[in-house]
This record gives sequence, C-alpha cells and structure tokens, in this order.
Amino acid sequence: MRKPNLHPEIDLDRIPRHVAIIMDGNGRWAVERGLERNAGHREGIGSVREIIRASRDYDVRVLTLYAFSIENWNRPKGEVSELMRLLEEYLENELAEVMENRARVRSIGRLDRLPPSTRRAVEHAVRETEGNDGMQLVFALSYGGRTELVDAARRLARDAELGKVDPEGIDEKAFASYLYAPDLPDPDLLIRTGSEQRVSNFLLWQIAYSEIHLSGCMWPEFRRAEFEAAILDYQRRERRFGLTSAQVRSGGDGVVE
Ligand code: FPP
Repeated sequence: MRKPNLHPEIDLDRIPRHVAIIMDGNGRWAVERGLERNAGHREGIGSVREIIRASRDYDVRVLTLYAFSIENWNRPKGEVSELMRLLEEYLENELAEVMENRARVRSIGRLDRLPPSTRRAVEHAVRETEGNDGMQLVFALSYGGRTELVDAARRLARDAELGKVDPEGIDEKAFASYLYAPDLPDPDLLIRTGSEQRVSNFLLWQIAYSEIHLSGCMWPEFRRAEFEAAILDYQRRERRFGLTSAQVRSGGDGVVE
C-alpha cells in the first residue's frame, strides 16, 4: 500500500535511481535577510536533512550532494572553517538516523585537503555505514569534476605504464572504472537550486545524459515539496539517450557507444 505521506501524482515505478544536487544559494538566502552568510549554511543543513528523508521515502537509491567544491577552498577562511565545522557536526549528529535507515555514507573528492578532524569525521561515517544496504548518501567534498577526470587519467596512465592496461583497449567503460565511485549509476536527475543555470564542475562525466531541474529556490528553502516538484518535472521528460521518440516507445535499450 502506498504510504500516505507520498505525493499522489508521483509514479513510484519511475523514481530516479540517482539524484544529484548542486545546493546553491545559502549565502544569498542569508544576505537577503540581513544575516551573515554562515547563517545560510546553517539553515541549509535543515534542507539536507529534509531532502535525505524525502529521498528515503521515495526510495531514491543514491543521493549525491555537492557540499564543498574544490573551488570553494578560495572562499574567505572563516566561511571555509564554518563549513567544515558544520559538516563535522552534521555527521556526528545524524549518524544514528543514518544507521537506523541502513543508509551508506560515501564521499567523492580530494579528501586529503580536508582539515584532519573533518576528514576523520567523514571516514568514521563511511566506515560505520559500510555494511548498510539502504540508500547511498554521497557527499562531494573538495570535489571538482575536472579534478576527478585528471585523477582518473593519472591512475589509468600509471596502470598502462605498468602494463596492466592496454591503451588500445581503453573504452568508456574502462575509463569510467577509474572515477571516484565507479560502481554508482550515473545520476538520472540533476537538481540545481539558487536560480543559476550552470554545471559548476559537478560530475562532468556522469551527467552526460542526466535530466536537469533548475529551481529558483535558494537551498535553505528547498524542502520536501520542492523535491517532489523536481521528481514530477523529471517524470514528465522523455529520456531518449540519443534515440528517436519512436525507438524509445518501441523499447529501444538506449545504449550509447
Ligand atoms: C552554496 O551556497 C552552498 C555551499 C557552498 C555549501 C553547501 C553546504 C551546506 C548546505 C551545509 C553543509 C553541508 C552538509 C552536507 C552537511 P552559496 O554560499 O554559494 O550561496 P550563494 O551563491 O548565494 O553565495
């Protein structure tokens, strides 16, 4: 039986398997209210919590949150350290709920740049939840799409040098196996809040065929209803993967090579 708290128009058989979110607009949300930018990040935690719960309720299998980009290191020191502190606090406070939901925490990005205590908090959450078989909760931290591709290319070149990989045999699948989390499916739905219309170096390889939902809401205002609107928007799209509409309707498998 359908749970009563689910939106009646959402088709539960067509829920995006992987939703990735660019959580933008915390700073503007705060400034518009005469508050300091960090107040926006603190309020944004409430949205993180609510969207994780909604994702669980709709049985989204993977949720990837762009929590800190590689470019964010250039922000004022005080803002960077507050974001790191919030992340640590979040991971400590929410671990019990994450465990209860059998969710698995993962991270993508250059973790070696994080302050030691933040890195320890992330690694602890990842370790504690490793055996969970529920939804995967992926935090993109110190993450850049181009950096990910460079890191993959570097490891691939090393393996080629060692004779473990034949350069002639490298195809998309082989290359993708060098990404940070190669076992995850590509995002079906990419959401960006904060009214900008750009990709901002997020999951450049993985979003090749993602549907994009742009929300005018600032991240602290993006809550369950806005998430449901994004899913409804996604369900109105026809995903063709380079095929024609007729091919899709007749059951084309959408393989792109
Ligand atoms: C973008 O808003 C948001 C960020 C740089 C960080 C997102 C972080 C959080 C929501 C809080 C901590 C995260 C977790 C996962 C616990 P912005 O500051 O760029 O906003 P602006 O474009 O209005 O300046």
